[in-house]
Amino acid sequence: MIVLGIETSCDETAVALYDSNANRVIGQKLHSQTDLHRLYGGVVPELASRDHARCLAYLTRELLEKNHLDFRDVQGLAYTEGPGLVSALLVGAMFGRSLAYSLNISAVGIHHMEAHLLITLFEHPEITFPFLALLVSGGHTLLVQVNEIGQYQIFGESLDDAVGETFDKAAKLLGLPYPGGPAIETLAQKGKASHFKLPHPLLNQKNFNFSFSGLKTALLNVVQKQKNLTEPIRADIAYIFQKTVVEILLEKTRRTLRHTQLNQLVIVGGVSANQTLRQAFDEGIKAEGINVYYPSIAYCTDNAVMVAYSGYHRLNRGERADLAVKIKPKWSLETLG
Ligand code: KG4
Ligand code: ZN
Repeated sequence: MIVLGIETSCDETAVALYDSNANRVIGQKLHSQTDLHRLYGGVVPELASRDHARCLAYLTRELLEKNHLDFRDVQGLAYTEGPGLVSALLVGAMFGRSLAYSLNISAVGIHHMEAHLLITLFEHPEITFPFLALLVSGGHTLLVQVNEIGQYQIFGESLDDAVGETFDKAAKLLGLPYPGGPAIETLAQKGKASHFKLPHPLLNQKNFNFSFSGLKTALLNVVQKQKNLTEPIRADIAYIFQKTVVEILLEKTRRTLRHTQLNQLVIVGGVSANQTLRQAFDEGIKAEGINVYYPSIAYCTDNAVMVAYSGYHRLNRGERADLAVKIKPKWSLETLG
């Protein structure tokens, strides 16, 4: 079955084709809106949805043409149903649902975070259930036990800001452009351990939850205390910020692994592209005999390959979206089946 995947939950317009018979990705097209939103220091939902509407049809046509395919070759359609920005999700869902109707093929709405997770299973077929997943994106910070596709038990989550959001806000404080994660990572490479100190919120509490808003406030205080925010000082602050975030993620994940006795860890979402994070987990978790898996860098951040692949699994289980265009801007993984 050839499945067309459509992703519009935030600021990437993406389409991709997955062929389940050959278990291969046929191709993908991705239009990033970062230049559009950079001026405002973050995603502007109205601009995002307008740009999705502008790009979706031509990206899909280009994707098919480039791969010498026609709309009639598409046998299943998957679009991101949530979680995400209301207006952005609506564009993708409306386009996807209508296209499936006009082609008389089945459509299914996909959970964005499940898609982030499942693409790692595509790349690492050696992973077996159950395993622990750390989902770290712009909107989510979750520690989830994955028993099966659709069977998720949340052990920990952020009580306030998501970790990617924290990177983005920290970047803004340091005068770095959106998106903040890659910008902080690049600047931190020039930084070193210094006298700057940041707190590790919730680390001494015996639960698996995270809190990042206090860290952001502490960072603001550090930045405001600097008389002269020179490049080397900014780099040292970026370094300590990134180090602190990674330490928090590592410690809470380690605790959850001990509690659940799981011996495989899958880390997904935009923040999983971070090399300092990968190095810390490789050193700190793999050393304890636990296998750690990440998606390839292109599949860490938002893409439609993950939607097409998850769509195949859901369609294969007989799931179908009805004709009404539905979205779920807030949607817990635990409610999936
Ligand atoms: O998964 P994603 O592309 O979109 C959402 O589902 O939210 O994640 C985007 C987030 C942004 O907050 C971005 O700053 C962060 O992932 N990010 C990173 C890196 N690359 C992207 N954070 C830290 N280091 C990176 N290299
Ligand atoms: Zn995402």
